[in-house]
Amino acid sequence: MLNAFNLQKTFNPGTINEKVALAGATLNLEEGEFCTVIGGNGAGKSTFLNAVAGVWPVDGGSITIDGIDVTGLPEHKRAKYLGRVFQDPMTGTAANMQIDENMALAARRGKSRGLGWGVTRSERARYHEMLKELDLGLEDRLTAKVGLLS
Ligand SMILES: Nc1ncnc2c1ncn2[C@@H]1O[C@H](COP(=O)(O)OP(=O)(O)OP(=O)(O)O)[C@@H](O)[C@H]1O
Ligand SMILES: [Mg+2]
Repeated sequence: MLNAFNLQKTFNPGTINEKVALAGATLNLEEGEFCTVIGGNGAGKSTFLNAVAGVWPVDGGSITIDGIDVTGLPEHKRAKYLGRVFQDPMTGTAANMQIDENMALAARRGKSRGLGWGVTRSERARYHEMLKELDLGLEDRLTAKVGLLS
């Protein structure tokens, strides 16, 4: 569950480039809900996502995920509570690593790590099933490097 309440963000405050990007943005999503945020160029869509992900601190408002207040958490600590896919598939992925390795990295986000196989057999089987659902043929390219996909 996500509760983003009354988010405020002004870029370059007090300068000639001051830009109020978020002025009271609020969004409540229950578990399993899906939503599309629409708006023209510069409306603040990416700024809103960046605020939730914690790219920089917001000027006001609060963000809770599953009842945990993450408003003051830096991005790397918030990563434990959320996942994010970027507009550019080369952002947020490791280009020199395989599809299954990238998925394994994502699956381990926020968890303690030790030395062991990067991707286990059962994980690979699970990723195969998950990707099959998308019907993009990626399930048969699990060992292809992400940077060489297109
Ligand atoms: N890091 C930043 N520094 C200064 N201004 C910024 C920054 N990020 C966004 N802005 C400004 O904040 C406003 C909202 O931008 P944002 O990128 O959130 O819009 P958007 O809705 O995602 O637009 P698009 O449809 O073009 O992706 C714009 O005026 C933009 O120029
Ligand atoms: Mg954008």
